[in-house]
Amino acid sequence: MAVEKTLILIKPDGVKRRLTGEVIKRLEQKGLNIKGLKMMKLSVEKAEKHYSVHNGKPFFKDLVSYITSGPIIAMVAQGNNSISVVRGLVGATDGSKAAPGTIRGDFSISIDKNIIHASDSVESFNHEYPIFFEEPEILDFSYGDEKLF
Ligand code: CMP
Repeated sequence: MAVEKTLILIKPDGVKRRLTGEVIKRLEQKGLNIKGLKMMKLSVEKAEKHYSVHNGKPFFKDLVSYITSGPIIAMVAQGNNSISVVRGLVGATDGSKAAPGTIRGDFSISIDKNIIHASDSVESFNHEYPIFFEEPEILDFSYGDEKLF
């Protein structure tokens, strides 16, 4: 059992479709602890840094232009194996292939407007979270109900 942190973004399509509450509800119901949360409009510079692993791929330019096109919600959530747990809640990258019951499977039918991003490894989390959060914005507190999950 590894207590991990993961970075989650609700993308512009998720925010504009008013799915923020739905996504947070699913994270909370699972027992994940949200430790940082903000709404922001990402700069092109930050978007290119966040998605640097995709730089050079044919979809990179559209990806950066899309993620900077409107407000996003950035979150840091903590919990047991939270990286793989959240990836499971999120579902496959392509919404048209994601399983029903997952966030993308329930709300997306495309690969680009797929509602949500989540770190895929500890290395990705360590690369990603400083782009969105200053260290003091990730709060060290206990919800007090951890034993119930
Ligand atoms: P995300 O989890 O944010 O990580 C990279 C994003 O690139 C991915 O979700 C998709 O929304 C987007 N993307 C667009 N086109 C492709 C593609 N052909 N293959 C993979 N990812 C793509």
